[in-house]
Amino acid sequence: MTVFHAVDVIKAKRDGEILTDTQIRSFIQAYTDGQVAEEQAAALLMAVVWQGMTTEELSAWTAAMVASGDRLDLSGVGRPTVDKHSTGGVGDKVSLPLVAIVAACGAAVPQLSGRGLGHTGGTLDKMESIPGWRAALPPDEMITVLQRVGGVICAAGPGLAPADRKLYALRDVTGTVESIPLIASSIMSKKIAEGTKALVLDVKVGTGAFMSDLGQARTLAETMVQLGQANGLRTSALITAMDTPLGRAAGNAVEVEESLEVLQGGGPEDLVTLTHALAREMLALAGVDADADAVRHDGRALATWRAMVAAQGGDPDAALPQATDHQAIRAPQSGYVTRLDARAVGNAAWRLGAGRARKEDIVSKTAGIWCRAKPGEWVEEGQPVVELAIDDPARVPAALDALTGAFDIGPEPPPTRDLIIDYIHF
Ligand code: URA
Repeated sequence: MTVFHAVDVIKAKRDGEILTDTQIRSFIQAYTDGQVAEEQAAALLMAVVWQGMTTEELSAWTAAMVASGDRLDLSGVGRPTVDKHSTGGVGDKVSLPLVAIVAACGAAVPQLSGRGLGHTGGTLDKMESIPGWRAALPPDEMITVLQRVGGVICAAGPGLAPADRKLYALRDVTGTVESIPLIASSIMSKKIAEGTKALVLDVKVGTGAFMSDLGQARTLAETMVQLGQANGLRTSALITAMDTPLGRAAGNAVEVEESLEVLQGGGPEDLVTLTHALAREMLALAGVDADADAVRHDGRALATWRAMVAAQGGDPDAALPQATDHQAIRAPQSGYVTRLDARAVGNAAWRLGAGRARKEDIVSKTAGIWCRAKPGEWVEEGQPVVELAIDDPARVPAALDALTGAFDIGPEPPPTRDLIIDYIHF
């Protein structure tokens, strides 16, 4: 048997050599088991940031992360399974209405989600603003909800890709998050372990996204689609714009409120457009022939949402918590809003308390931002452009600071921009 030395693997990657399957598997397993030191894993991660990975290395790395924990078996659910993953953006509450819509159409959606970090929100944080709703479900209960209701949004348990849990925390503090192979393997290992048979990725590009370069976003999307296909998941991706918040709300309860509008047949146009595009793609991959628009208008999606909420202890009839105060930032002159920056709005919501700076932070359910005017809309002088939903007045100055220069107003409407920039299919 070959003796495994972590330092040999680190040096090989540092020097641009191609790692073998065995080297990768041994390293990931030993790190998960606590036999590789944090500094050694950090050194290997930094070498990967610089040297990249070949397709074969990436496939072995992803497989090793999946093998570090459990892989759920959803074959007993009785409906085709399909999920969606977004790389994260400001006001991106699409998962909330989407899971209910696609489930109401007849597919099963096992949405294992995370919490927000930094300026982008997390689906679980949003759902937790619903009185009584709980994120943690053991795998057998999750499968029961999927069978009964068709959709579930819950926390990924500790048994799912534990290597990624450790590696992601380490990447966060070692400047090694920004690497396409590391991001792709991190996201895809969790989705492969989750057991879904099909997956649609929403790769965001723009100021409010993880990536602001279209070429990089496209490479990330292609890499993830290839990884999914190679692991038996029918996978496709949309590349979508994230320069301005999606919809009008950014925060937790405020985003649930807006999601309910969509489920009741209304909601902001950009949010509805993206939700429908993703629903169509998911239903096509799942082989389900159904009309997403019909279930949104005839109450079936809303009924599924209510059942999903109730299945996890939530009260679908309870009023959502409300902020204690509001403050508007008003248009200094009349004109068209030509820009409303997603990153600035995300940072402001975060500073008001809607997001967290460290994993341990508790988020505010009610703090957030309402975008009262979006790019392309006309405002009169003095009309609110952005409104802060406040539950802690001490946080307002930092939020106002984040919003300095966040929007422009001009005499002409801005050029229209495509929300959906590209589709990646193989
Ligand atoms: N989301 C993940 O799950 N992993 C990454 O590496 C980046 C975003």
